[in-house]
Amino acid sequence: MRLRNVKNAQDILNNCSFLINNPQNYKGDFKKLFGNNNPIHIEIGMGKGKFISSLAAANPNINYIGIEKMSSILARGIQTIEKSPLDNLKVMRLDALELADIFAAEIDRIYLNFSDPWPKNRHAKRRLTSHTFLKIYDKIFAGQKVIIQKTDNDKLFESSIEFLSTYGYILKNISLDLHKTDKKNYMTEYEEKFSKKGIKIKYLEAYKD
Ligand SMILES: C[S@@+](CC[C@H](N)C(=O)[O-])C[C@H]1O[C@@H](n2cnc3c(N)ncnc32)[C@H](O)[C@@H]1O
Repeated sequence: MRLRNVKNAQDILNNCSFLINNPQNYKGDFKKLFGNNNPIHIEIGMGKGKFISSLAAANPNINYIGIEKMSSILARGIQTIEKSPLDNLKVMRLDALELADIFAAEIDRIYLNFSDPWPKNRHAKRRLTSHTFLKIYDKIFAGQKVIIQKTDNDKLFESSIEFLSTYGYILKNISLDLHKTDKKNYMTEYEEKFSKKGIKIKYLEAYKD
C-alpha cells in the first residue's frame, strides 16, 4: 500500500485510545485487555481499517485486533476507526514476523486481506501464507487454526493454496470470484479498488486442528 507520508502519524498514534502500546506487556493476557472471554480475531496488514471496523461492528461478541506494520498507514486506519470507536476493536503497530513475541496461544482466527504478493520466487518466504509465517501463527493460535484470505492476485492465491495444504491445513469454501457467491462479505479498501477494475476476488478458508 502506497501512502504519502502522513506528517502527523506519530501524533495520531500517540493520541489513540484504542492503540495497544507496549503490546509485549499483554502476552497471554489479551482477553484481560478486552475485559471479557470472547474469542480474539486479528487482521494482519489492516491497511486503512475499513474491513476490520465493519466486521467488529457486526460482531460485538468477538474481539478484534488490527495489525499494521507501517505507522503512516496505521494512522489512516486509526482515523477510520475513530469515526465510530468500538469496545471490541483495538489496533497495534507490528510486523507479523514479531507476532509470537507479542501473543501467547490466544488467537482464534487470522484474516489476511490483499496481502503484499511478493511475486518474485526468491521472495516467496515473505508471503504471509509461507511456511515461515505459518510456523509463527502455530505459536499464537489458541486451538483450531483458522486463516481466511482474500486477494486479487492469482499467483499469491495459488501459492497460498500450496503452502497451506502442504502444511496440513484443510481448505474450504475456495472461490475464484467471491462477489458471485452468497458469502457474507465486508469489503476492504483494496477490494473496492480492484473489483471496480473488474478484477475477480479470490477467497479461501483454511482450517487445521
Ligand atoms: C496491499 S495492502 C492491503 C491493505 C488492506 N488489507 C486492504 O485490503 O485494503 C497490505 C498491507 O499489509 C501491510 N503489511 C505488509 N506486510 C506486513 C507485515 N509483515 N506485518 C504487518 N503488516 C504488513 C502493509 O503495510 C499494507 O498496509
